[in-house]
Amino acid sequence: MTFAPKEALSRRIRALNPSPTMAIDGKAKEMKARGIDVIGFGVGEPDFDTPEPIKEAAIRALHEGFTKYTPVAGIHDLREAICEKFKKENGLDYAPDQVVVSNGGKHVLFNLALALFQEGDEVIIPAPYWVTYPDQIQLAGATPVIVSTREEDGFLLTPSLLEKAVSPKTKAIILNSPSNPTGAAYDRRQMEEIARVCVKKGILVISDEIYEHIVYNGFEPVSFAALSPEAYNLTVTVNGLSKSYAMTGWRIGYAAGPKEIIEACVNLQSQSTSNITSFAQKAAVVALKGDQAPVRTMAEEFAKRRKYLLDRIDRIPGVRCFHPQGAFYLFPNVSAYIGKSFNGNRINNSEELAQYLLDEARVALVPGEAFGAQGYLRISYAASMEKIKEGIDRIEAALKKLA
Ligand SMILES: Cc1ncc(COP(=O)(O)O)c(C=O)c1O
Repeated sequence: MTFAPKEALSRRIRALNPSPTMAIDGKAKEMKARGIDVIGFGVGEPDFDTPEPIKEAAIRALHEGFTKYTPVAGIHDLREAICEKFKKENGLDYAPDQVVVSNGGKHVLFNLALALFQEGDEVIIPAPYWVTYPDQIQLAGATPVIVSTREEDGFLLTPSLLEKAVSPKTKAIILNSPSNPTGAAYDRRQMEEIARVCVKKGILVISDEIYEHIVYNGFEPVSFAALSPEAYNLTVTVNGLSKSYAMTGWRIGYAAGPKEIIEACVNLQSQSTSNITSFAQKAAVVALKGDQAPVRTMAEEFAKRRKYLLDRIDRIPGVRCFHPQGAFYLFPNVSAYIGKSFNGNRINNSEELAQYLLDEARVALVPGEAFGAQGYLRISYAASMEKIKEGIDRIEAALKKLA
């Protein structure tokens, strides 16, 4: 019998979708490599360099020979620095044994999915959602229950939408505030309303707060676990250094929550990846405990870009754009352009519109479908002002050509 590698793949993996945002970025990079001048608004990666003191800490650790295995959950200094950060910035009390450090927020969430979810479980995800959540839940054998939020509600889940989605099988909800892809964020009152339902129904909350430092116009982000002792007991708080400190390539994420859940993640990690890179942990301590001015400087720069882009987008006929409270994405409603044509070719959905903009305007964007929302495009403004100006000029010109 001939061996067919494809047949060898597990059911789990056959059902898995590759990350669409990574796919778009790959396409744009491949076009760039062929000499095509593509502007990348696709990927959620700050264009800034990692602040110098953080890099220096890693170099120092290397020179000092800090290159061996560390405790699986992370070195004590780092877990302590994370606890201090939670106390200072979020008003949260966690002990180091309630903290696990993993290879990025994505890995933290993957560990949590495998540690918590199984066949028969339902996990609520408000849409538009970050692309990775549903696939990780499915990998664990559980069922994602997608609850579409409305643009009119600021892309926020309401208590009544949540109540309707809860069933006896509901195990957890994943909340992401500020959100990728919409940038929407819950204020304290809105979050308290969600917490009331979660506490009443005994639903575990995975609170992904990775964009907490990138907020606008004085918006004050709230940690779900800090809302009340009841909320604290049923929440796992997820965060990471990728976005706040421009450290995407370093792969540093962390979770804090009930000891039993964190221990389960550590056990899982001990049988899969073990500790994250030893010297990256030393750098993470410096990032968290050092001067936070670079975090604010980057957030201020994002604010300028957001304002510029919103001013421009709001003037494009037919495009309506939610003004987000955080993150570095805009999620314009482009449904007025669906059904239009270019050279006799009809654009049937936002995926085809994104493809048209890549071909015609040479701008890479992610279509709303990737986030569970039809009729939208996600623009990541983690790009220089010069690229942003050029990119939006091109988008505007290409949209004008549609009839
Ligand atoms: C909402 C959200 N959570 C988590 C992550 C994970 O980031 P990382 O794995 O780089 O920490 C991302 C990255 O795009 C994200 O957008």
